[in-house]
Amino acid sequence: MVRVYADNAATTKMSRKAIDAMKPYFEEVYGNPSSLYSIGQEAARAVLVARETMARQLNCEAREITFTSGGSESNNQAIISAALIGEKKGKKHIVSSAIEHHAVLSTLKRLEKQGFEVTLLGVDESGIVSPGDVAAAIREDTCLVTLMFANNEIGTIQPVSELGAICRARDLLFHTDAVQAAGHLEIDVKELNIDLLSLSAHKFHGPKGIGALYARKGVELVSIIEGGAQERGKRAGTENVPAIVGMAAAFEEACEHIHENSKKVSALRDSLIDGLSRMSGSVLNGERERRLPGNVSFCFEGVDGEALILLLDKKGICASSGSACSSGSLEPSHVLLAIGRPPELAHGSLRLSLGRYNTEEEVDYILKVVPELVSYLRGFSPVWNA
Ligand SMILES: Cc1ncc(COP(=O)(O)O)c(C=O)c1O
Repeated sequence: MVRVYADNAATTKMSRKAIDAMKPYFEEVYGNPSSLYSIGQEAARAVLVARETMARQLNCEAREITFTSGGSESNNQAIISAALIGEKKGKKHIVSSAIEHHAVLSTLKRLEKQGFEVTLLGVDESGIVSPGDVAAAIREDTCLVTLMFANNEIGTIQPVSELGAICRARDLLFHTDAVQAAGHLEIDVKELNIDLLSLSAHKFHGPKGIGALYARKGVELVSIIEGGAQERGKRAGTENVPAIVGMAAAFEEACEHIHENSKKVSALRDSLIDGLSRMSGSVLNGERERRLPGNVSFCFEGVDGEALILLLDKKGICASSGSACSSGSLEPSHVLLAIGRPPELAHGSLRLSLGRYNTEEEVDYILKVVPELVSYLRGFSPVWNA
């Protein structure tokens, strides 16, 4: 049976290197890093080495890295910490965008209920936040700007360097959700003036359920999980040693080959975009230039995205649609609505996200199957009459 995995933005297959790096920490070095005997201390050393590896790749210090359970937790902790720091100074306004991941949007909603004010900026048709809009939205009482590095649905890359510079010039904390970017785009937290950054291992061929939060020296993290004194008291709970080691191995591998992987994956992405753009009634979401190497996102007129995903699965293709099924009703994606897609078109969305294990043959197969299924589905559509 054919299996073409084209949903790398959802999660990735683990790399052999990461799996091999983890194995000893399940079978031999299974001690608790807080224990004083040798297999405990050996595990503690592995966590230290992993922290140094992560820090080296981001150009920061090891003590600026906190291990978390993934992107969602890192986003929650970063935003809540910045909000509480701000509150102490009487600053309770946060700037963000309409296309953030729900881990950011829901945290902001919770803070609104606690008396914070949030400005959600719109984006242009490509999904880019204007640095001018960000500068204009900043107020005397702003305590945080949180904007994603790259979007998970449409792949657009934000002008992070400019955004960081705007915040630094105003002495304002800047957090970026880099879950989709880490391991795929070069990130130097110093050069980009980033104060807080979230990443997640399972998006770069590492294990699931592990992530990291970079917090610049001097930016106080508030712990959102209470308990023991792990992670210098900033994140309680016995360290997930195998996952931490696996994440560091996967991150190092991804960063060391970032240029060759990006070149290969972008070429596959571009042939997919070229092929799907030739279909009638197809619209590319996001732009071609400032785009993640692996992201392909389209809307097809007269097609139900969910039905397309299910039919693609029957043909062995794993992809995703922009719609999210919430409480039984199918809501069009907030990202597609934010870039101006009408709801009926947003319902016909398809995201194919490629990675370094994809091949040209797989892209050819997708390009053969998608147009067949789209025209099959249009046969049932009351609105499609081209
Ligand atoms: C942009 C973005 N932020 C945050 C997350 C959440 O990451 P995690 O699954 O590690 O909690 C995701 C996952 O899809 C994401 O794409």
